Amino acid sequence: MQTVLTSNVNEAAEFIRRGGVVAFPTETVYGLGANVFDEAAVAKIFDAKKRPADNPLIAHVASVDQIAELAKSISPNAHLFINAFFPGPLTVVLPRSERVPLIATAGLDTIGVRMPRYLLANEFLSACGVPVVAPSANLSGRPSPTTWQAVLEDLDRRIDCILQGDPTEIGLESTVVDCTGDVPVLLRQGAVSLAELQSVVPETIEYKQVRYDSPRSPGLKHRHYSPAATVVITDPKFEISDGRSSAFIGIGKAEYPFEFARECASVGEYAHSVFEFFRECDRMGIRTIYCESVPETGIGAALMDRLRRAAEG
Ligand code: TXA
Ligand code: MG
Repeated sequence: MQTVLTSNVNEAAEFIRRGGVVAFPTETVYGLGANVFDEAAVAKIFDAKKRPADNPLIAHVASVDQIAELAKSISPNAHLFINAFFPGPLTVVLPRSERVPLIATAGLDTIGVRMPRYLLANEFLSACGVPVVAPSANLSGRPSPTTWQAVLEDLDRRIDCILQGDPTEIGLESTVVDCTGDVPVLLRQGAVSLAELQSVVPETIEYKQVRYDSPRSPGLKHRHYSPAATVVITDPKFEISDGRSSAFIGIGKAEYPFEFARECASVGEYAHSVFEFFRECDRMGIRTIYCESVPETGIGAALMDRLRRAAEG
């Protein structure tokens, strides 16, 4: 199939209405969307990405009212998070409405819901007229795409359309918080920090503090965010013997003659740039990427989470 490139939200939304799959920008990363109520369309997302069928999708809404189409109920804690952080880089996990096909949630009786704040995303979702399920628009296992060109690199001729927007503002995927139990549980770190969640619901805990019978966020067990190169997390004053075939990204100065280096002015800029940096390293055939560690506060916690996953991959 040919992949249509457009910056026109109505042209992109038309593909969704006809049962197609469309990549679109948000403030976190680019997503690959389909009509949540169209099982055949949702199946195309898993095919295009080569995504394991046991990894559930996040449903994206244009307005808070649309959540009622997806969730059986919204707990008081979920309401508090929605009021505080929607629209924005937060996904709340709620009990799934029976209208939502099981393929969208990988068989779970819960569903993740998010309302992006990036204007073009909101205009696109409004034009679609239905909630849109969307994982990140990369081939499974690769770094999430933060530009439309990165989507094209992974998914050209595998999807119907790419809605072309700006490079994404944040650069890391949304925070995911499970609101289906007595206390909210942070399942994935993102731009909304644990401290910010706790400022709204003080009881909120981290996933590692809970013992579940089965993994609550199945996606967390899959290989993630990995460039082909080996990722090494270093402290600011590390030493290497040879900069050849190596790259560096961090806040500090790159002390060695790396083949490729990115010195960021802030942790926010580092988070914003890291996935595209990984992709650029792969295009250059870099073998080792040294990533400077950062303090785990604010977006730094999400950044360190992604770096660790990349280093495992
Ligand atoms: O920022 C984002 O969240 C981006 C943009 C496109 O919105 N989307 C994204 O989707 O990162 P994806 O599929 O790459 O990651 C979704 C994560 C996975 O770790 C998945 O397991 C978890 O959210 N998730 C989705 N639905 C869930 C549910 N019902 N219960 C627990 N975890 C869920
Ligand atoms: Mg993903």
